[in-house]
Amino acid sequence: MTRINISRLDEMKSTGEKIVSLTAYDASFATVLDEAGVEIILVGDSLGMVLHGEDNTLNVTMEDMIYHIRQVAAGSKHAMIIGDMPYKSYLNPEQALTNAKRLIEEGGADVIKLERGDGNLCEITRHIISHDIPVCGHLGLTPQSIEELGSYKVQGRDPVAAKQIKQDALALQEAGISMLVLECVPSSLAASITDLLRIPVIGIGAGADCDGQVLVIYDLLGISRTSPHMSKNFLAENGNIRDAIAAYIEAVKFSSFPDAEHSFK
Ligand code: KIV
Repeated sequence: MTRINISRLDEMKSTGEKIVSLTAYDASFATVLDEAGVEIILVGDSLGMVLHGEDNTLNVTMEDMIYHIRQVAAGSKHAMIIGDMPYKSYLNPEQALTNAKRLIEEGGADVIKLERGDGNLCEITRHIISHDIPVCGHLGLTPQSIEELGSYKVQGRDPVAAKQIKQDALALQEAGISMLVLECVPSSLAASITDLLRIPVIGIGAGADCDGQVLVIYDLLGISRTSPHMSKNFLAENGNIRDAIAAYIEAVKFSSFPDAEHSFK
């Protein structure tokens, strides 16, 4: 069986079928998500928080990412695998390309994800893409910027910040990214960016109008140390893990998740 590819996600954007994504970090969860029909498994550097118990994602290493991406690749057959490039692993184009290749070749990722859109990110992105590695962008709340942000708070609420996120999204699309994750931004801003871009936009805390949704699996199961406002405990209402995941998939496909309670104004 072949894995979901970018063309399939583009087709879903154009037909309006919602794209469902969840994080996973090991083979067992990857198998459950794959069998449930999740289109994208994100091996996020959120593993620094939910697996390692740290307060942020800054200490996650390339070795951590490769180790977990490999497990997810071994446990899944159908879903696209996106692997996060960890903090400080893409400071310049050459270093970024070397590390992106490692996530693909040693880990087994299909796509790599970079946070932010400022500075030389577009140049770095273009360099990776010119070597045929698909890139997913990540704007809004970018957890690798926690030291500058000060806390995990909603981004893009004031007009200047909203304009900057829109400009960064367009610049990244121009640089060639295949899709964009938008985290913790007002729903109206996410809706207008989703409309503006031709590539799929996957939201987390970004309202129901994005082309798809992603959540951290442990938040969905209600077992994270924190329970973020944008997340919902699907296990509480569904009793077992497979049913909780099926309920999340259905809720995303029918746009009943995220509702106003799990979105931001
Ligand atoms: O690291 C991660 O899991 C992520 C998602 C929260 C989007 O980047």
